[in-house]
Amino acid sequence: MAVVGERGPPVAETAHENELQRLQDRFLVLTEAMQAFAGATTEHPLLLDTIVRRVAEIVGGFCWVALLSEDGRWLIPVASFHPDAATLALIRRLYIAIPLPVDGPLPPSIAFRSGEHVLVNDLSPAQVLARFSPEDHAAVLGVGVRHALLAPLRAQGKSIGVLSMARCGAETAPLDQADVRFLRCLADHAALALSNARLLADAQRELAERRRTEEALLRTEEQLRQAQKMEAIGRLAGGVAHDFNNLLSVVLSYSHLLLDDLAATDPMRADLEEIKKAGERGADLTRQLLAFSRQQVIEPRILDLNHVVESMDKMIRRLIGEDIELKTSPGRELGRVVTDPGHIEQVILNLVVNARDAMPDGGTLTIETGNAELDEAYAREHLGVTPGAHVMLAISDSGSGMDRATQERIFEPFFTTKEKGKGTGLGLSTVFGIVKQSGGSIWVYSEPGNGTTFKVYLPRTDETATALGRAVRLTTVRGSETILLVEDDDPLRVVACGILRKNGYRVLDARSGGEALLLCERLEQPIDLLLTDVVMPQMSGRELARRLTRLRPDLRVLYMSGYTEDAVVHQRVLDAGITLLQKPITPDVLLHKVRELLEAPRANPR
Ligand SMILES: Nc1ncnc2c1ncn2[C@@H]1O[C@H](COP(=O)(O)OP(=O)(O)OP(=O)(O)O)[C@@H](O)[C@H]1O
Ligand SMILES: [Mg+2]
Repeated sequence: MAVVGERGPPVAETAHENELQRLQDRFLVLTEAMQAFAGATTEHPLLLDTIVRRVAEIVGGFCWVALLSEDGRWLIPVASFHPDAATLALIRRLYIAIPLPVDGPLPPSIAFRSGEHVLVNDLSPAQVLARFSPEDHAAVLGVGVRHALLAPLRAQGKSIGVLSMARCGAETAPLDQADVRFLRCLADHAALALSNARLLADAQRELAERRRTEEALLRTEEQLRQAQKMEAIGRLAGGVAHDFNNLLSVVLSYSHLLLDDLAATDPMRADLEEIKKAGERGADLTRQLLAFSRQQVIEPRILDLNHVVESMDKMIRRLIGEDIELKTSPGRELGRVVTDPGHIEQVILNLVVNARDAMPDGGTLTIETGNAELDEAYAREHLGVTPGAHVMLAISDSGSGMDRATQERIFEPFFTTKEKGKGTGLGLSTVFGIVKQSGGSIWVYSEPGNGTTFKVYLPRTDETATALGRAVRLTTVRGSETILLVEDDDPLRVVACGILRKNGYRVLDARSGGEALLLCERLEQPIDLLLTDVVMPQMSGRELARRLTRLRPDLRVLYMSGYTEDAVVHQRVLDAGITLLQKPITPDVLLHKVRELLEAPRANPR
């Protein structure tokens, strides 16, 4: 039925060709889009930009895409295009400058919520202007939106955004069903590509997260291995130290006793002095080994680390000499820690001496304190850390630093890189033991040539600092009281007996708890002090004391131990009201402790 005109192609034929062209254009855009979407991974912002551009060119109007915000409440425009730059700027300002609420009344929100496309053709100026304030009216009319079509972006049955196109100008043709099919098809593919890209991004994020967790796991495994190694060495060292304490007590005690007896000019004195010195060095070593194996008895106090550092200032300066500058940075409102004051000083001194040794040509030593909150994440990556409030003590030097291999071994007892006679390799193992025993942790950060930082974290307490108690002043160490001495190690019992008797005491001795009980039952006279070893076969010192104080409530008790058994010590902390004499025993220490206890007021009957 084509009407053939005089000139040019028949009208119907032209319309047909136009329609064909139109379909071809759309088909082209669709195939282009599909190809692009198929290859799209995380590039969808760029992709959407290309799509809106092509669609806008074809419809001869504008096109934009909005995506659902993460909180699910807004549609946020992410790409828009109009072939005319000035109009595009106006559109962006008027129509898509701000996110649209998902539950709003405008067509994009309706399309989004309903999951169906919305087609509004032949908008009247009144309809177009309705949502704008008067000062924008001229601009809105300038854009002249006339027909609009909105298609929801749907993936897995849910709307994830809206794709919209509009034709501007009073004379433009309305959008028809072919446009609807075209836009919906495009929207479906875009939605699929977007959700795929998101899935991919999620998977990549998850993978990265898993890799991070695996790395953290590897790190903690390494720390665990290290901790197990330290534990094993610690047990060995502790066992050796324990046995050595009894031996050293005998060596030291006899050398003291003999020296006391020898005349000042006796030629044997020098040799004996050497024996005593060797014994003392041995005692130092066992003390350090016990500290490392966390078997030192601690008498914790509530301390302010700033006070501790401050009180050591002079000593530290003397130690490091003049070529090393000391900087202190005390943390403000520093929390308190519960630890043994003597031990924490030892920690600081050992770290300071190491820092000094690492800076033979001078440098800077920094001592810093501060409150630190160690969170779950930190605890997960740092074995042995309990999350919570801590106090940090950091000691840094600008010295030689260490490589990784050295860092892995520094806390091992007897590991030293210093030349013979310069270091025993027990400094850091002592530090390690003390810090661990106080419930804390220690970490080293170092690089060859770039100095070293040791960070100690101790759990923070809310209690207030306690003043350090004063020792009783003694005028003499002699006495005439009756002491019941119970010790299963024969040489040690003999020498302790000798020391006490020599200083005026009356000593009854027993090899075991049973023997001591028998002795007491038979004896009428008073006993002033029970001096007993803690760990003995059959009956512990603690049990013996319990039974004896029931018979003789006035009896005072002094425990001797080289070790920290649960009998008198819990978690290595001395039970209240217990007095402990730590092995190895020397005459001085023994006599002092005995006298101190005998002269102490009877506040605590034990
Ligand atoms: N601040 C530091 N800078 C560089 N290396 C250090 C530092 N602190 C420790 N080290 C290294 O760790 C090793 C072990 O230290 P540790 O304190 O346990 O023993 P030591 O200092 O060698 O001997 P000791 O302390 O028993 O006299 C040192 O020999 C040294 O190699
Ligand atoms: Mg050292």
